[in-house]
Amino acid sequence: MDKLIIRGGIKLRGTVKISGAKNAALPLLAATLLTDEKCVIKNVPTLTDVDTMIKILIELGKRVAKSGDVVTVESGDDRKCRAPYELISTMRGSICVLGPLAAKRKKAEVSFPGGCVIGPRPIDLHLKGLQDIGVDIKIKSGYIIAGGKKIKGSRVYLGGHFGSSVLATANVLMAATLAKGKTAIENAACEPEIVDLAVFLKKMGAKIRGEASHRIEVSGVRRLHGCTHRLIPDRIEAGTYMLAAAITKGDVFLRNAACDSLLALIDKLKESGLSVERQRNGIRVKYTKPLKPLDVTTLPYPGFPTDLQAQMMALMTVTKGISVITEKIYPERFIHASELGRMGASIVLERPSAIIKGIKKLSSAPVMASDLRASTALVLAGLAAKGTTEISRIYHLDRGYENLEAKLRALGADIKRVK
Ligand code: EPZ
Repeated sequence: MDKLIIRGGIKLRGTVKISGAKNAALPLLAATLLTDEKCVIKNVPTLTDVDTMIKILIELGKRVAKSGDVVTVESGDDRKCRAPYELISTMRGSICVLGPLAAKRKKAEVSFPGGCVIGPRPIDLHLKGLQDIGVDIKIKSGYIIAGGKKIKGSRVYLGGHFGSSVLATANVLMAATLAKGKTAIENAACEPEIVDLAVFLKKMGAKIRGEASHRIEVSGVRRLHGCTHRLIPDRIEAGTYMLAAAITKGDVFLRNAACDSLLALIDKLKESGLSVERQRNGIRVKYTKPLKPLDVTTLPYPGFPTDLQAQMMALMTVTKGISVITEKIYPERFIHASELGRMGASIVLERPSAIIKGIKKLSSAPVMASDLRASTALVLAGLAAKGTTEISRIYHLDRGYENLEAKLRALGADIKRVK
């Protein structure tokens, strides 16, 4: 298995280009199942999660080609409707094929999904939402067997214990585009990735209103057609590089980063004392003075994203004073805290909060990545630590960060991958 070796203490400087959003790419690729026509998606990042979704589409009879950052999906054998355990169990995003398959092919057999180990990740809201619009659901041998012959628009409430659900909204939204009649999704997620999905579906001919709000209305149409679409930039990748600049006391320009989708992070970084400037075509982040500790709570969009919680924690470990991070989406998403502890961080867990006492400097140690975002928290810690940090189990990083080492090296970091 590969490892990352990072020699810390170098200030990051320069420009980094932000890639297309992983969490927009996955539902949009799944949405191509809603049509028999050709779809072209641009700005698709090269990631193992994207490769997995492409394999799932091929398994479902689509013909898919990826050339650079452009993915073309064309019709093949549309009788296929089984998405197998071997593929679906490797990532959560794969559950997005359920709604489109049920709506377009009227039948789906989709394994229960897997994904990062960040606490319980039920799919009750996906199933409830689809049932509310008439999808017949049965569970058999670890598979969801869905029948879509009676799909009919309806009013769907999608709130759970932890607020709205991003991918449940995606699933119901996609299925509702081909339902008879009108659907209203209440307590819908309004993450930028859901908005991008709605924009894509509208280009395919779907009738959707209210995306970017907590009530999305869909008027079903008989068929959808192909289209060309460019994915939004990855706000979590951008946020990660902003935090990397902050933790190394650097000065980084994030080309293509979308300021509007990062307001919660920018607000907190400014409160901490970091200089964050919206510039033409990107964001510039510059460390100018010692940062102040923060009180951060993760929430559904437009709140502070849970997918930046671990990276923010890494920054707080070296920010003088007491910081508190409260995790309201995945209360158990703190595996990185103990690994940061190996590097000298002082973190007490009072779930769902973490209390962090900032120290002067982290020290290097062998650490292990546990999930995608926790892995980058360790990378950030390694970039700031004294000495050489060794991170194992880094395959998680390849799921969600395009060319991470190359991008960091271009900013001056001393980072390499070894077998
Ligand atoms: C998406 O996951 C993202 N994944 C996650 O990013 C992200 O952390 C999450 O949204 C929250 O922003 C993709 O887009 C592929 P949810 P999703 O359903 O949609 C509970 C990353 O690192 N819930 O919005 O699966 C759930 O347990 C990944 O890129 C139910 O109770 O998340 C959580 O507490 C990790 N029942 C909350 O809702 C359900 O049926 C929000 O989860 C579904 C979810």
